[in-house]
Amino acid sequence: MSLAPQLLSTPRLRLRPPRPQDAEAIFSRYASDAEVTRYLSWPRHRDLNDTRAFLAMSAAVWQHDGVGPYLVFREADLMGSTGLQCLPGRRALTGYVLARDAWGQGFATEILRCMLELAQVCGLRELQAICHARHRASQRVLEKCGFQVAQAMDLDFPNLDPMKQAAHMYKVKVKKHAS
Ligand SMILES: CC(C)(COP(=O)(O)OP(=O)(O)OC[C@H]1O[C@@H](n2cnc3c(N)ncnc32)[C@H](O)[C@@H]1OP(=O)(O)O)[C@@H](O)C(=O)NCCC(=O)NCCS
Repeated sequence: MSLAPQLLSTPRLRLRPPRPQDAEAIFSRYASDAEVTRYLSWPRHRDLNDTRAFLAMSAAVWQHDGVGPYLVFREADLMGSTGLQCLPGRRALTGYVLARDAWGQGFATEILRCMLELAQVCGLRELQAICHARHRASQRVLEKCGFQVAQAMDLDFPNLDPMKQAAHMYKVKVKKHAS
């Protein structure tokens, strides 16, 4: 796959890979928030060491895959994060998380469309996303961007319940990049 650009932009947002100095903002804006992380696959950050572990993982993934997590900014304000996680066969998994004060303004849809364009630029052929079966807002975001349910599964949601939860794997085919 082609190397991903370090800087991405949408009409309202700027995206770039995380840096070590972003730790406090990531922790306080979204990663430690129980409501924000309710339906996420990673455990809510308990202290800055959890955030620093994420930053180390992100740097390693970028180094290895040439793509990885992006932070999302509106001017200087950290709004959330997204990214692509490479899978075999020119596929990738994506996701998105926004600070609570950014919800309900179309930002997740704008971010997911940006990830679809990135997947196209990188020469991927399929994007996947996992969503809890009761998470209507995220399901709507996926549907607006052309994703469809491909598979039902039971998965861990570490911030929600110790029991596995019903979830859906969503997929969308990535259009070929017109070069
Ligand atoms: C889920 C999340 C990403 C949505 O972000 P957002 O910027 O508010 O999403 P958008 O505004 O782009 O779109 C949300 C859509 O869902 C709809 N929606 C919101 N709540 C809904 C609900 N309870 N039932 C049905 N639809 C709902 C909105 O009306 C909108 O659809 P519309 O444009 O047709 O009106 C955001 O709430 C978030 O970051 N949550 C925490 C992290 C998370 O759960 N990430 C996803 C993991 S799969």
